[in-house]
Amino acid sequence: MTTKDQLLLSLKKNQGNWVSGELISNSLSVSRSAIWKHIGKLKKEGYVIESAPKKGYLLSKDSDPITADEIRKGLCTKVFGKKNIIYLQETDSTNTRAKELAALGAPEGTLVIAEKQTKGRGRRGRSWFSPPGDGIYFSLILRPAISPGETPRITLMTAVVLSEILISMLKLKLRIKWPNDILVNGKKLAGILTEISTEMDAVNYIVVGLGLNVNTLFEKSSQEIKKSATSILIETGNRIPRIKLIQEYLKLYEQYYDIFKNNDFEPIMNRWRELADIIGEQIKVDVIGKTHIGEVMDVDNDGILILKDNQGKLQRIFSGDVTLARQFK
Ligand code: BTN
Repeated sequence: MTTKDQLLLSLKKNQGNWVSGELISNSLSVSRSAIWKHIGKLKKEGYVIESAPKKGYLLSKDSDPITADEIRKGLCTKVFGKKNIIYLQETDSTNTRAKELAALGAPEGTLVIAEKQTKGRGRRGRSWFSPPGDGIYFSLILRPAISPGETPRITLMTAVVLSEILISMLKLKLRIKWPNDILVNGKKLAGILTEISTEMDAVNYIVVGLGLNVNTLFEKSSQEIKKSATSILIETGNRIPRIKLIQEYLKLYEQYYDIFKNNDFEPIMNRWRELADIIGEQIKVDVIGKTHIGEVMDVDNDGILILKDNQGKLQRIFSGDVTLARQFK
C-alpha cells in the first residue's frame, strides 16, 4: 500500500472527525510536509478534506469521490469496469470520450466516468445538467454481436437495470417514460443516451451513457430544469453515496447483459412494460415535425411504440417525446 493509500485509509477510519497531522506522520513514518502533499493530491482526486492548524485533517462525511480506485474496491463484476475505468474530473461528455476510446479499440466493459461534464448531452440535441459532486455521469462501452436494429433493446434493458437498482436500494416509486427516462413523481431522475457505430450490417460498438441525479439540488440550474428534474436527495431527503449505486448497477447490468446475449429478452421487456405502465394510456407524442395523439397499444420488443391514433390507424413510432393525456388535458 502506498503512503497516499495508507493516509486515505486512516482518514476514512476517522471520517467526520479530526486526525492530527503529527499522529499520521508518526504512524506512517513520513514527514508532515509529505502528508500535506498527499492531502493535496487526494483533494485533487475529489476527496473533501478540511485542514486546520492544531486540529489536523478531517475527511468530510459527505466526501464521496467516484474515482476508478473507489469503484474497483468491492466491485463484484466479471468484466464490466474490472480492467478499464477511465475517471475524469472534468470532461465535455463521457459519451464523446467513450466513443473516441471505442473507435481506438477499447474493450467491452470499459467505463468512462466523470465528476463533471461541461457539455453533457441528452437525446434530441438536448443538454444534460452535470454539476460536480452530486450526480453520476458515465458511459459504458459494449460490443454485442447484434444487428443495428436490435440496439434499442440495450436502451430498454438499461432502463430496467437502473430501475431495479433504484427500487431495491432506495425503494423509489418510479416509472419508466418511453423510451428511456426514469421519472419519480412525474419529474426526471435519470436519462440514457445510447450511441452506436455500425460497420456493414453489424454493430461495431455501442456506448450507453447514463445520467443520474443523486444528490443534486439544482440550485444553479435553469428554471426549466428546476421544474422538470428531480434527484434522489430531493425524493428521499437523504444524501446517498454514489459509489455503492455505481457498483450495484454494474453488477446487475452485467447479469442482464448476459441474459440479453443469450437471446432471452422477453422477460426483460415484460418487466420494462410493467415499469412503464403505458399500455392503454391516451398520449401525445411529439416526433420531429409531427404530433400523434392516440392510445398506446404496445411497446414491442424493439422498443417501437405502437399507437392507435384518433383516426383508428396504427402508427409505429421509433422515437419522440411522450405526454400522458392526463397531463395535457
Ligand atoms: C436524456 O435523457 O436525454 C439522456 C441523458 C443522458 C446523459 C448522460 S450523462 C453521461 C453521458 N454523457 C453524456 O453526454 N450524456 C450521457
